[in-house]
Amino acid sequence: MKPASRPKTPAPTQISWEQILSNLDDGVITADPRGTIQFFNEASEVLTEISSAAATGQTLHQIFKREPWLLALVDKTTPPDCESARGEGDFVTRWGGKIPVSVTASPLRNRQGIFSGTILLLRDLRHQRELEEDLKRADRLATLGTLAAGLAHEIKNPLGGIKGAAQLLRRSADNDASVRDYTDIMIREVNRVNQLIEQLLDLSRPAQLNLEALNIHEILDDVLLLEGQAEAARQAVIKKNFDPSLPAIRGDRGRLTQVFLNLVKNAFQAMERPGTLTVTTRVETDFHIRGSGSDRSRLIWVDIADEGGGISEEDLPHIFSPFFTTKLNGTGLGLAACYQIVKDHGGMIRVDSAIDRGSVFKISLLVAS
Ligand SMILES: Nc1ncnc2c1ncn2[C@@H]1O[C@H](COP(=O)(O)OP(=O)(O)OP(=O)(O)O)[C@@H](O)[C@H]1O
Ligand SMILES: [Mg+2]
Repeated sequence: MKPASRPKTPAPTQISWEQILSNLDDGVITADPRGTIQFFNEASEVLTEISSAAATGQTLHQIFKREPWLLALVDKTTPPDCESARGEGDFVTRWGGKIPVSVTASPLRNRQGIFSGTILLLRDLRHQRELEEDLKRADRLATLGTLAAGLAHEIKNPLGGIKGAAQLLRRSADNDASVRDYTDIMIREVNRVNQLIEQLLDLSRPAQLNLEALNIHEILDDVLLLEGQAEAARQAVIKKNFDPSLPAIRGDRGRLTQVFLNLVKNAFQAMERPGTLTVTTRVETDFHIRGSGSDRSRLIWVDIADEGGGISEEDLPHIFSPFFTTKLNGTGLGLAACYQIVKDHGGMIRVDSAIDRGSVFKISLLVAS
């Protein structure tokens, strides 16, 4: 009998160290003793927005002239110190934005142990910072929830009393038009405060989501149709950039409609001059965000981009906090609610904004399995 033949193992492919470094998620840059760049991997290109071809041959001082903190680390790797150094700081992008990065700079030595250049390891900290920010925000909301629940109870009872008294007064002064007007105002305002308390309580209660497979384009179409009629949308052009192959997502129709209504309303309100509101849908392609876990393995993003006045750097950290508003008649609860609802769906909410250029709010949601 012939022995069973073994399955053939595929021939090992040769991978050069350059390919390995190119495939790393972290930036790797090497420079000779004079600081002239010799190797610049793909992740460095993404972080610095400079191509490897353009960077190679230039000095670290030329490429990182806007990052003196990084050059100080490089200086430590050269004689007489010849030490490794670590630090964190911001990369300034071509558009004036900032990318937080951590950098490790080490001296390179040849076989004889003689200093022969510097190697830099760059790590993008955006994702980590966003997670930290998320945690802080969740903490603030939890504190607020406890406070709101206590306050709501205390406020709702006297409010009920005021409303009842106003209704009685209105009935007993049926013939007096001015008393009727005043009591109507009282009742309306009491209802408004009641609604506000309910909204605040909504933020603190664990949400009961009615999850189903949804076509997000249907929800966006409805929202754009509805908000497109509003006074604030008069000057705006609406552009839909929908990916026709987008899969269904898992969500609560009512709650997600509320999220996109708030975002689209804000976008229109921000555009005092004529401008374009662009709504884009896309499937996540960035492995960093997608991750390898099953939960995060399939995401879609909805981007809502306006050409309004933008958000200042001082305001940006506060926009998701309840009651933060820069509008005369705003309650400042719109984005706080969006944040909570998106979180409850296991999604994320991000914002890029620059004064006078506009804002992009990006929402990720999980694909229905
Ligand atoms: N698209 C945007 N462009 C510029 N600023 C924005 C935008 N969206 C939100 N903001 C800023 O964030 C703040 C908070 O927004 P949020 O929706 O929570 O409250 P609001 O719009 O002020 O009031 P409400 O939504 O309760 O009517 C706004 O007051 C505004 O300063
Ligand atoms: Mg709003």
